[in-house]
Amino acid sequence: MSQESMNLTLKVWRQKDAMAKGEMVEYKVSEISDHMSFLEMMDVLNEQLVAKNEESVAFDHDCREGICGMCSMYINGEAHGPDKSVTTCQLHMRSFNDGDTIHIEPFRAKAFPVLKDLMVDRSSFDRIQHAGGFISVNTSGNTQDANAIPIRKEDADLAMDAATCIGCGACVATCKNASAMLFVGAKVSQFALLPQGQVEAQERVQNMVAQMDKEGFGACTNTGACEVECPKGISLTNIARMNREYLGASISK
Ligand code: SF4
Ligand code: FES
Repeated sequence: MSQESMNLTLKVWRQKDAMAKGEMVEYKVSEISDHMSFLEMMDVLNEQLVAKNEESVAFDHDCREGICGMCSMYINGEAHGPDKSVTTCQLHMRSFNDGDTIHIEPFRAKAFPVLKDLMVDRSSFDRIQHAGGFISVNTSGNTQDANAIPIRKEDADLAMDAATCIGCGACVATCKNASAMLFVGAKVSQFALLPQGQVEAQERVQNMVAQMDKEGFGACTNTGACEVECPKGISLTNIARMNREYLGASISK
């Protein structure tokens, strides 16, 4: 199992740009500490490549603490790698063994086109958010204090659970249909459960679902792989709530 330092073989997806044909390229990295995060291990690879005047591997990252949702690698056939409830930046090298071969690919989905190497374009998620993932609040000086609005504890907890979605896209990458229903379900639910979300509730769910379809995400077939791979434990019940919201909005027209 865990050991202090490892020698690894990496098979990494390299793709020059969005139009280029990509391929898996093999690299060796040595003396990788089991305390390193997966991204720190990738930093070691890139330092090695730069030292040899070769182009470093492009990958997305920002916070490196499981909050921003930027890191997005598909590691040994799993979004964010083998550990449960972690993002790639939170994955530690102690989850691998000396001598392992690790396959590293970008998240793959029609709506997440590869930009370069392991970087994909997830702006389709941003456009879904822009379609309805917000509430309109009067900021004229008469704004009601949110804390003065009574909310059932159970609803507040469920809304907070839904709001922990970091928009990483692992659910899409994992789904055989590249469905975005878990992501959109979470974004619809966090408002549907709160009084502040009621005013625009019908337009929100209809507009977000319409944008999701327009972006080319696939349909949900209740397989549940998205829930298993989601680093934030977003529940499938959010998809059911979104479907109820959508149906309600459709028949009230
Ligand atoms: S639902 Fe989970 S896997 Fe999907 S974008 Fe949100 S945090 Fe990532
Ligand atoms: S880099 Fe922010 S979640 Fe991984």
